[in-house]
Amino acid sequence: MRHFTSVKEIGDLKTAIQEAFEIKANRYKYSHLGKNKTLMMVFFNSSLRTRLSTQKAALNLGMNVIVLDINQGAWKLETERGVIMDGDKPEHLLEAIPVMGCYCDVIGVRSFARFESKDDDYNETILNQFIKYSGRPVFSMEAATRHPLQSFADLITIEEHKTVERPKVVLTWAPHPKALPQAVPNSFAEWMNAADYDLVITHPKGYELAPEFTGNARIEYDQMKAFENADFIYAKNWAAYNGDNYGKILCTDRSWTVGTRQMSVTNNAYFMHCLPVRRNMIVSDDVIESPRSLVIPEAANREISATVVLKRILESL
Ligand code: CP
Repeated sequence: MRHFTSVKEIGDLKTAIQEAFEIKANRYKYSHLGKNKTLMMVFFNSSLRTRLSTQKAALNLGMNVIVLDINQGAWKLETERGVIMDGDKPEHLLEAIPVMGCYCDVIGVRSFARFESKDDDYNETILNQFIKYSGRPVFSMEAATRHPLQSFADLITIEEHKTVERPKVVLTWAPHPKALPQAVPNSFAEWMNAADYDLVITHPKGYELAPEFTGNARIEYDQMKAFENADFIYAKNWAAYNGDNYGKILCTDRSWTVGTRQMSVTNNAYFMHCLPVRRNMIVSDDVIESPRSLVIPEAANREISATVVLKRILESL
């Protein structure tokens, strides 16, 4: 595997999950693979889990790690071609990317949707420039439209906890004070569809995600109905995707906050969220602290998903 930006590059999911379980049982088994190899992690946006788990994964594989926070200490970067650079951005991404490529063997990039242009976001302009100009294998640490390392960790977590072959998994929108990208729900839907789970997506009208991600998932606008007999509840906020509402908040209805009322109609479902989570906006204290909450095991599995992905990239060098 050279680049990793979506579920497509991971290939057969059963093989990937077996590999994840093997690595979880012995996470240093491939520590020889990264000898004298350097990972550069480039962050255009903040992170706790991705930063720590990907760095730990690289250390598991014996790699060296360089972390670059673009907005803290690096030159501000211009990203548009054709701009007269007489403003506050002294360096262009088109020079910065190949320079970064000179100092490392693999590059991880975090670059969220900016909600300035739907085309730029959904064409993954920043991530694709790294792929085109760095000369290095590139993997997504959450881009504008997908968060594949998170979704892979979510899949591993569900596989560890499911009691039926094809569990009912419900992705639910929940309120949030800020407009958040669709990357996590898009990616989650894409991976759950690839795993052939029984996927239901519930959200207020107007929050439909792009059909290329939701695929054959059932859309249910009544949250309580969606939750009936669910085995896993995955909560997330996202801003509107469609038309002129792209990037906007259309609903702040706190009745969508996941609480014991909704969880009571499930099949004693597990609760999941990628974190960070705003308590009592997305989920009640009771639900996130309950024994059925998987938020910490999900975060722990980020190390495993990143180790599998980096291992495969190293094997391709
Ligand atoms: N879930 C996740 O990607 O967390 P961070 O934003 O803290 O990396």
